[in-house]
Amino acid sequence: VGGVRIARDDVVKEDDPTNNVPDTIFSKIGLQLHRRDSHPLGILKNTIYDYFDKNFAGQFDKFDDLCPLVSVKQNFDDVLVPADHVSRSYNDTYYVDSQTVLRCHTSAHQAELLRDGHTHFLVTGDVYRRDSIDSTHYPVFHQHMQMEGFRVFSPDDWSDSGMDGTAYAAADLKKTLEGLARHLFGAVEMRWVDTYFPFTNPSFELEIYFQDDWLEVLGCGVTEQEILKRNGRTDHVAWAFGLGLERLAMVLFDIPDIRLFWSSDKRFTSQFSEGKLGVKFKPFSKFPPCYKDMSFWINDAFTENNLCEVVRGIAGDLVEEVKLIDNFTNKKGMTSHCYRIAYRSMERSLTDEEINNLQLNVRESVQSKLNVELR
Ligand code: PHE
Repeated sequence: VGGVRIARDDVVKEDDPTNNVPDTIFSKIGLQLHRRDSHPLGILKNTIYDYFDKNFAGQFDKFDDLCPLVSVKQNFDDVLVPADHVSRSYNDTYYVDSQTVLRCHTSAHQAELLRDGHTHFLVTGDVYRRDSIDSTHYPVFHQHMQMEGFRVFSPDDWSDSGMDGTAYAAADLKKTLEGLARHLFGAVEMRWVDTYFPFTNPSFELEIYFQDDWLEVLGCGVTEQEILKRNGRTDHVAWAFGLGLERLAMVLFDIPDIRLFWSSDKRFTSQFSEGKLGVKFKPFSKFPPCYKDMSFWINDAFTENNLCEVVRGIAGDLVEEVKLIDNFTNKKGMTSHCYRIAYRSMERSLTDEEINNLQLNVRESVQSKLNVELR
């Protein structure tokens, strides 16, 4: 199932300084792993579909092919993200140009789908973030798969409940998502944690207890009235959730490394041919990693995100980790960072020569693009 590939030259004006999407990211757009029925992400999506089909008599409209290129308005303004919110920064978000981004969440589609009259919908798709929140684990993977759920209620739905609309929607949301968690995990311990999103109030995170740890499964909440009002649903209430597919799939299928989702290695892909939940991944031998260190004096503009981007631009999927291992400031006030880069292929053994060449190119590129002084 090939989705539409987006060619850089079709969407980026030459040398546009407002573009920060590198070629490595463009090359991953449109793969649509969630649309392959024998891929863990496709299996998970289908299993969630089954839950909603069964419990809501097919009322949920499903979208899994909406274009990941959206306007700044769709991605941020329409869901009430404040003008000065960090998530809008070039450090956190991929801008194709000053008005167009690679969506950073599937919530970018809430407003248009509401305006089109949908009241129950699921949106699945690839989302893109530059932030390094999870950089210690997956520094090179800035594409993730997300599923959005959205349900609108009209006053008739809650009038007999004795609750106000917001309380009714919150209760329905929790019941629905607890049911979904049991559908995926069986009997499992769960807890709700209060949180903040600009587009919901109240807002919650659902965590499940899995292998001795609390695992964050999704973010959700009762949709801000303003969003409903602006999109033709005054006097209604709604709930919404957003769920990261990879993290759940890694847990459900025992998949140890997020890069495996992109692997075309038969030893990976063939294990899920049944298209059902319940299969546990049997690891095949990993090729050894190779570590290279590099030190440099940073400047004021230096960020770890930018470093990761440069490294990824040269070494692509062969980088497993970029980790700060030393950091000091000398008497003159100059700060030095030492990063350890782990190179590893999922598919083959890398040669010394290949790694040395990569590292040489990485060093040159880091120096010229980030203007740091190598040591
Ligand atoms: N969009 C949020 C995120 O990506 C998730 C979310 C969706 C939260 C819908 C609340 C409601 O983190």
